[in-house]
Amino acid sequence: MSNEIYAPGLEGVIAGETAISTVEGGLRYRGYAITDLAEKTRYEEVAYLLLHGELPRPAELEAFRQRLDQNRHLPRELLQLWRSLPPALPTMDVLRTAVSFLAHYDPDYRLWPCESAAPTALQRGRELMARIAERLLAQMATSVAAYYRLCRGLEPVPPKSGLSHAAQFLFQLTGEVPDDLAERAFDVSLILYAEHEFNASTFTARVITSTLSDPYSAIVGALGALKGALHGGANEHIMPLLRRIGKPENVEGCLQAMLARKERVMGFGHRVYKTGDLRAAILGQWAQRLAQARGETLWEAIAQRVEDYLRRTKNLFPNLDWPAGRLYYYLGLPVELYTPIFALSRVAGWCAHILEQWQANRLIRPRARYVGPIPRPVVTLQERS
Ligand SMILES: CC(C)(COP(=O)(O)OP(=O)(O)OC[C@H]1O[C@@H](n2cnc3c(N)ncnc32)[C@H](O)[C@@H]1OP(=O)(O)O)[C@@H](O)C(=O)NCCC(=O)NCCS
Repeated sequence: MSNEIYAPGLEGVIAGETAISTVEGGLRYRGYAITDLAEKTRYEEVAYLLLHGELPRPAELEAFRQRLDQNRHLPRELLQLWRSLPPALPTMDVLRTAVSFLAHYDPDYRLWPCESAAPTALQRGRELMARIAERLLAQMATSVAAYYRLCRGLEPVPPKSGLSHAAQFLFQLTGEVPDDLAERAFDVSLILYAEHEFNASTFTARVITSTLSDPYSAIVGALGALKGALHGGANEHIMPLLRRIGKPENVEGCLQAMLARKERVMGFGHRVYKTGDLRAAILGQWAQRLAQARGETLWEAIAQRVEDYLRRTKNLFPNLDWPAGRLYYYLGLPVELYTPIFALSRVAGWCAHILEQWQANRLIRPRARYVGPIPRPVVTLQERS
């Protein structure tokens, strides 16, 4: 087959069409530049934009927020399940289990059309997906906060009406309403994490959807892909690295030794962005602002020197996980929640992609280049003795 293309890791391959976002010429969600969105909108507006294609009008946003609030409670059975699990499991694993479990409590789950989207079924599919997405947005956030508290012998905090999605999560985690700076900085991080074209977890969700499976299965698969250290898991490695370096004067020696050992510096490099990630620049400013407000400037000084060194010596630039890892630390968030927080934001993008894939589906099934043994006859068990 002469027209076959071999691209390990699918690097550079256009594997489908999307109208949700593009990384060409700077990240845009549905045509809006990420810098503009991070400056002028809140996470709920962005989630609505991703799911529905347009920014909401005020009444639409208010109704969307109310529906999120109505969906924030978890079934009692999920809390019972968590109490029966072995103690202190990784939160990403528990979130994956929770999403799978929550499917059975979603009245729309069984209605999802596990068949190709006929023109007459499109509108119904969109409505189902919108409701499923709202439940996932609300319940994944509550799940992360509630499980964290249960592990520490604390009761889950019921949602408080009138809070933004960002403030609500921080409130349900700590029992305290965050100050404006904390809320806004966290909100911007959610906006930046919400969507990123055909990244590994989104592509996983699309592959699962392409078999005409259901949205919950697709999100469970996406969570599995996201937790890996080369994807969402990177943000949990940032503060341990900064602590290991310890002070600005140690940066060069420490990195030199790491690179000599062929160790990856987490939070740097990107499959697509080879000259810098706009999102890292935006969130970097918020990390600096928070660091100053919290008196944590040592980490920022080390981080700046790490950036300079890797740019100069390896032409490597920070990705979004680099500032996110610091920002979440300045917000006092526990490190094991950093990747789950990425997930509870990215679920908006995943749901938008699931719907898009289903609406114009083609089974995703690439070929492999065979490198195994040459043809050989089977030797029976007796003959192998
Ligand atoms: C994200 C990532 C997997 C993309 O990698 P990729 O497109 O497959 O790039 P490659 O692995 O081919 O790397 C190209 C070169 O840059 C180097 N490189 C890339 N990222 C690096 C990093 N974070 N630290 C050290 N070296 C890195 C590689 O070692 C390789 O060098 P070589 O050509 O001398 O062998 C990679 O940059 C990485 O592992 N980053 C750290 C994890 C991370 O931050 N993930 C979050 C992504 S948003």
